[in-house]
Amino acid sequence: MSQAGDLYLGIDVGTSGTKALLVTGDGRPVERATVEYPLHWPRPGWAEQDAEDWWQATVLATRRVLEKAGVSGDRVAAVGFSGQMHGSVFLDEKGQVIRPPILWCDVRTAAQCRTITEKVGGRERLIELTGNPALEGFTAPKVVWLMEEEPDAYERVRTILLPKDYVRYRLTGELATEVSDAAGTLLFDVAKGEWSAPVLEALGIDRSLLPPVLKSYEVAGRVTEEAARETGLKAGTPVVAGGADNTCGAVGAGIVREGVFLSSIGSSGVVLTPSDTLAKDPKGRVHSFNHSTENQWYLMGVTLAAGLSLKWFRDQLGQAERAVEAAGGPDAYDLLAAEAQKSEPGSRGLFFLPYLNGERTPHADANARAVFFGLSGAHTRADMVRAVFEGVTFSLRDSVEIMRELGREVTEIRAIGGGAKSPFWRQIQADVFGADVLTLEIDEGPAFGAALLAMVGAGRYKTVVEAADATVRTKDRTTPSGDRSRYEEAYAFYRSLYPAFKERYDALAKLNL
Ligand code: XUL
Repeated sequence: MSQAGDLYLGIDVGTSGTKALLVTGDGRPVERATVEYPLHWPRPGWAEQDAEDWWQATVLATRRVLEKAGVSGDRVAAVGFSGQMHGSVFLDEKGQVIRPPILWCDVRTAAQCRTITEKVGGRERLIELTGNPALEGFTAPKVVWLMEEEPDAYERVRTILLPKDYVRYRLTGELATEVSDAAGTLLFDVAKGEWSAPVLEALGIDRSLLPPVLKSYEVAGRVTEEAARETGLKAGTPVVAGGADNTCGAVGAGIVREGVFLSSIGSSGVVLTPSDTLAKDPKGRVHSFNHSTENQWYLMGVTLAAGLSLKWFRDQLGQAERAVEAAGGPDAYDLLAAEAQKSEPGSRGLFFLPYLNGERTPHADANARAVFFGLSGAHTRADMVRAVFEGVTFSLRDSVEIMRELGREVTEIRAIGGGAKSPFWRQIQADVFGADVLTLEIDEGPAFGAALLAMVGAGRYKTVVEAADATVRTKDRTTPSGDRSRYEEAYAFYRSLYPAFKERYDALAKLNL
């Protein structure tokens, strides 16, 4: 038995659910608990969640993880947060949520992106001020959308928060955000690390609506008496600001130095690499945001429907696999990976473009839609599911290529999420990326990075880099195989497909069907 306050709690407010992870001070996972919630698609291209679901899931996951570990709340020395990026939580003067938060994967704001670009003085100026162009998923377009489309609701807004910041507010009663999530709002000067006065002014957004910006590892508040009763944590426990899910995933994978890449396949797919200086893509194809480490930035490319593409396949075409799982058999995703292995590299000439809900990197096109291309009577369901695995990976390769073009050398790729769990998908990644793909001894995802930030906030480690160095170890290494040249040919063809469809996507968006 160790003494009081020796454990750290990382909470990841994700898109499919909230995960609570309890770890020791030397980074050994003790227990984890995940509570899921729905993702609502009220109209095509719209994605929303209920903020109360996030809070209730956090309460339940925290209670469960303490119960599973058989410990009381006073064993927790500090709490850290990670969260899905960009979501807009609008609060009124009483701190009540005004409308369901609009999420990172929502693409309703194409018109607002044009307005923002115009008002700020053009795309180049916007990239100069915020590091990034206006993209539908970011927070600022959602704020402008509310202004334009629901002005009565906007009138009542007193605070704008990011998803995890809202949950932390419920836990501590304090309003705050931190650099890594502020960066994803498009209202933030990523170079200076503060809200961008010129952007706020151009868009007519009052600075008072935005919370103070902390470092990811700074203490943002303490658990209130009321939240302590609900969660089982001890009142007064320090809670650090935390980070975006992608920076927390990166910290937890030891992605704290230049040259190391993260490939994370969750609902979205992400390729990320840190930078010691602020590096921007002049063409704005990859994002340039603040890292959760000390004085670092990172470049990131995002595939909107990565795990979501496979989930779509499982839900719509994977009845057989779901039935086996429901009867107590293996996980449906594992069964789908086994099915895909009946096909061949290149899926026998079948291609899948994973643009189910529009796309972010590299095409930034809200109108793009998914495609199976090349389907013949000879193709089987195995080819189709393999094409999904490959198409998602090709889309991530697009981001890797942009970073290579920006002069980033890929020394190694560390995989987390669904793409790391399956040896089959790891091999596809190594072959498609043309680089070694490593997994981690502790594969707990962003919740682990959040726990490391909590350790830094509580003084267990001096810096985030020190915390990552002390706790993160790699495990398996997958090297590119003899199939690489087949994938090269397939990837070259894949890249030619989006330009061929581009004009049809725009026409499709105008159809009244
Ligand atoms: C990143 C992004 C997604 C979400 C997923 O820009 O939109 O990766 O953070 O939670």
